Amino acid sequence: MHMKNSYSTQSNLSVLRAPPLITKAQEKFPIAPHISSQKQHVLKDAFQELLLGTAISRGSPQGNDEKSLTLALQHFNAFTAENSMKPEAIQPEEGKFYWKDADRMLELAEQVGATVVGHTLVWHSQTPEWFFRGEHGEPLTRELALTRMRHHISTVVRRYKGRIQQWDVVNEAISDEPGEFLRPSPWLSAIGEDYIAEAFRAAHAADPDAILIYNDYSNDRDEKRHKTVKLLQSLLDQGVPIHAVGMQCHWQLSTASLKETERAIHTYGAMDLQVMVTELDISVLKFISHKPYVRTDDDVDANINPYIDGLPHDIAKQQADLYKEGFEMFLRHQDVVKRVSLWGTHDGESWLNDFPVRARTDYPLPFDRAGNPKPAFFAIREAGLGDAER
Ligand code: GLA
Repeated sequence: MHMKNSYSTQSNLSVLRAPPLITKAQEKFPIAPHISSQKQHVLKDAFQELLLGTAISRGSPQGNDEKSLTLALQHFNAFTAENSMKPEAIQPEEGKFYWKDADRMLELAEQVGATVVGHTLVWHSQTPEWFFRGEHGEPLTRELALTRMRHHISTVVRRYKGRIQQWDVVNEAISDEPGEFLRPSPWLSAIGEDYIAEAFRAAHAADPDAILIYNDYSNDRDEKRHKTVKLLQSLLDQGVPIHAVGMQCHWQLSTASLKETERAIHTYGAMDLQVMVTELDISVLKFISHKPYVRTDDDVDANINPYIDGLPHDIAKQQADLYKEGFEMFLRHQDVVKRVSLWGTHDGESWLNDFPVRARTDYPLPFDRAGNPKPAFFAIREAGLGDAER
């Protein structure tokens, strides 16, 4: 038996379905004039049970991107901190916690009745060096690494107990290398394979009601699904409190495979785990994997950065179709898929403008750079309304 049975799905789901409120936050951040005409089309209202999430960038609750914050408050009912809860943001120095950005995001989420997703507790990236150094510069021992990991998890999760309903506990632990199971991260070298189980145990001890998620990219693709099943099965066999798989779903228009994604949902669902789509976006640009990529003047060249002057209609339509089919597929599996979160609101704020090549112009999200809805917005909405009619 695994710990899924030990928490009440019913009570968690009622937290998840907190009704959207018209809010003080919206009074404070009134709908920007250029998008007020869209008020009748509130994206989250097209969905019944499925939570519709977005990532909140670090600066937007502090007023750095009012457009993004307005869209988030209006259209989404689950918020993930894009950066402000990562280890480097929240515990930059040992024992010195910085809460301001995370606290602010939580206040805003609560004002609109949104579910909050904590992201992320244990990761090889965006984690400060001090975590991985011995006290006098010597290699980290298992004991010290475990102590630091548990202290970080219990401090952060306890602080937000009952206010953060879902946690991405461990992020991206599986290796991309053929034949290699886990990514060779400093956590793995210091603690060993059980660092993952220990992270989940610590999070569960700190908040037994939180939904605990293992989050990764490409685990909706066949090649990573097998390793993911191996990891999840081993955690379940040990009785580790894990409740859901986070499929990031950073898709590319040219390579996304709904068939593979659907297969992954079946597989994880059959293991009695929930699926959260945690970071959905659809890049319209070529993925260039050789790193570091050096920009040249030829970058205006069609292959690298073809749409600096705007997104052609046919590409916007293809993207909208993929969003629609994707959401329709997620909605067919609502017994397993409980949340779909986009990784941002408008194209101008997306990390994909700088990844994997810096300073390109990508168009991965449902709102354009001015905050207006794109064909992708209407496609997602149609998928939601279609489900309500069935
Ligand atoms: C990964 C992480 C996210 C974020 C994205 C890029 O998917 O889980 O926190 O860093 O990369 O924005």
